[in-house]
Amino acid sequence: MDRAERIAWLREDNPNRLEALWRLADDARRANVGDDVHLRGLIEFSNNCVRRCGYCGISAENRSVRRYRMRPDEIVQCARMAHGFGYGSVVLQSGEDYGVTRDWMTEVIRLIKAELPLAVTLSVGERHPEELRAWRAAGADRYLIRFETSNPALYSAIHPDLPGRVSDRFAILRTLKELGYEAGSGVMVGIPGQTYEDLASDIQAFQDLDLDMIGIGPYLPHPATPLGQSAQWLPEGEQAPNTELMTYKMVALTRLACPMANIPSTTALATINTKDGRELGLQRGANVVMPNVTPPFYRKQYEIYPGKACITEDAAQCAGCITGRIQSIGRRVGAGRGASPNYRKELV
Ligand code: 5AD
Ligand code: FES
Repeated sequence: MDRAERIAWLREDNPNRLEALWRLADDARRANVGDDVHLRGLIEFSNNCVRRCGYCGISAENRSVRRYRMRPDEIVQCARMAHGFGYGSVVLQSGEDYGVTRDWMTEVIRLIKAELPLAVTLSVGERHPEELRAWRAAGADRYLIRFETSNPALYSAIHPDLPGRVSDRFAILRTLKELGYEAGSGVMVGIPGQTYEDLASDIQAFQDLDLDMIGIGPYLPHPATPLGQSAQWLPEGEQAPNTELMTYKMVALTRLACPMANIPSTTALATINTKDGRELGLQRGANVVMPNVTPPFYRKQYEIYPGKACITEDAAQCAGCITGRIQSIGRRVGAGRGASPNYRKELV
């Protein structure tokens, strides 16, 4: 599909015509990654962050957040729970926390890999190539770092650089691939100032980067952030809406552009449609879900956007909820680690 066709779909609002897009995406999903839905246990292990991303509720700027970093033994305990629920991998996610040193993270990865047959995914921000190398050597399998938007002006407007360091997430993604990680990225949909054309460019960037994992969620304004307080929305017709429908269109078009990638039905989607957002994501291109296994006491302090789904549940409740939702749409929970077929294709 070319750029003009993608833009036409992104602007399409007729539900009958959109049915054709959902059908194409669901067929491509089934043909390339099958009916298995792989589950990743999400461990939000630290909400410390040195950065000031304009949209994010746990930015260093937000003084009302109670900061925590879980102990290694608490993290391993969460990983044990994830394994107990039958999940094939865990995602260790945090803010950009320099208390998470190279050696500290290495030890956590080693502890999990020594005890459990899980794939380990890191989502810990913009880190030095030497740290990424050490963590890969310690056994980390995958790394997630969204580029958020491929529009460089918009990106820099919402991501103030740290003093003396220019943020280049594309360079980090290339490094991750060189190190042999399964590489994941993604974007937010409907950032103030983001156009339909920008979203089409995001899909092109997913394709050019040959990503193994792609996460897409709606931008959700957080009242305690600069962007949540004063956003510069473009005029109607130019501004990409931060809606549920727009997010499905991006998920579906991404499945068609990157047929073998693992694509989660995200928590942000479950947040704007608590009733069946997760299911609709899975029926319009997605094949992965990331149930939260963070202890309830900590997850309350990890509110990157308001009203975040699952904030009051515990790991067992999310496990039951997700399994039920997957079965209700005639899909099944995948066994094993659920590596991206896009990654495996490079190995054979
Ligand atoms: N709305 C939607 N998504 C958000 N993220 C962070 N803050 C928000 C928000 N306010 C997403 C970013 C980040 C991921 C972990 O969560 O895309 O990469
Ligand atoms: Fe957490 Fe549904 S997945 S409550």
